[in-house]
Amino acid sequence: MKPEKEKIILTGDRPTGPLHIGHYVGSLRNRVALQNSGLYRKIFIFIADAQALTDNMDNPEKVRQNVIEVALDYLGCGLDPAQSTIFIQSQITELCELSFYYMDLVTVSRLQRNPTVKTEIQMRNFETSIPVGFFTYPISQAADITAFKATQVPVGEDQEPMLEQAREIVRRFNYIYGETLVEPEILLPDNAACLRLPGTDGKAKMSKSLGNCIYLSDSADEVQQKIRGMYTDPDHLRVQDPGKVEGNPVFTYLDAFCQPEHFDRYLPDYPNLDELKAHYQRGGLGDVKVKKFLNAVMQEVLEPIRNRRKEYERDIPAIYDMLKAGCDTAREAAAATLDEVRRAMKINYFDDTELIAEQARKYSTK
Ligand code: TRP
Repeated sequence: MKPEKEKIILTGDRPTGPLHIGHYVGSLRNRVALQNSGLYRKIFIFIADAQALTDNMDNPEKVRQNVIEVALDYLGCGLDPAQSTIFIQSQITELCELSFYYMDLVTVSRLQRNPTVKTEIQMRNFETSIPVGFFTYPISQAADITAFKATQVPVGEDQEPMLEQAREIVRRFNYIYGETLVEPEILLPDNAACLRLPGTDGKAKMSKSLGNCIYLSDSADEVQQKIRGMYTDPDHLRVQDPGKVEGNPVFTYLDAFCQPEHFDRYLPDYPNLDELKAHYQRGGLGDVKVKKFLNAVMQEVLEPIRNRRKEYERDIPAIYDMLKAGCDTAREAAAATLDEVRRAMKINYFDDTELIAEQARKYSTK
């Protein structure tokens, strides 16, 4: 185990829409805590625009518009450019070079077995017309991670197959070319409800196209409206009916967001979430009361994020400057790894004086 201070964090998000509370509990909240712990040597957070283009190639404007949204969401959540390098994937061309070399280390059948890619292909109805760039994005994601020698990757559970694939690439690279790359570890949220937050409609996944997300940039009113309209237990018709908390997104959100002190502040009749759930299950507790409590909790969490975001929105050119500086820092780190990679792969012809001398000797005796 490396000492904490040797650890490097890297993670990112596709800019296909503003970030929602699923991103927040699944990874963002964790990242900010890791950043503020001061225990990490470097932190890289990036906006995966090139990966977003792998299934939005015909809509570059959407990706372009959402880069700034994601950057503002990051800053709103408390990512601090003085502590974390925030950058844009496409601007680091070293990542393309690294992906190209990694493609030699991965088979088509291995990619076909990646469960995340499998379900994503189904979701997008690509069937037989899968873009090669989309199919190979796990390889490019391995490049994202390893170019920065990341040891820790805080992501949601759906990214586990990507991390497994990255580790395989690292092991194969190091085995063939010598110890060069670092094997990354996934950092999952420790609270089960945060692994995958359902949509407000109770569907398993939050997605922009389903219209079932609460965004970090939503106004207080929008959040309240969305909570008021949330799906609950459809059999819980009257207040006195017993209700189900499993598969009831109102309770899943409480599992993800509620802290003991929220009861003191907003619902002092109950000592904790377990008691609230027990009452709901017994019957006699109405949805409106639970939703009101959830709204109070969510507003408390989201308000400071929204306010900080608003502050940053006042100077957009400064956000682009911040991203540009982040890209410069990131490029430097990736370039250093690429130097090592080229040396290991024996494609560093011009700085290999030994090679040149050896070839010269060979020909001088002919
Ligand atoms: N695939 C990730 C997502 O959809 C985004 C991503 C791209 C990423 N490259 C990465 C995450 C590298 C962590 C590390 O959210």
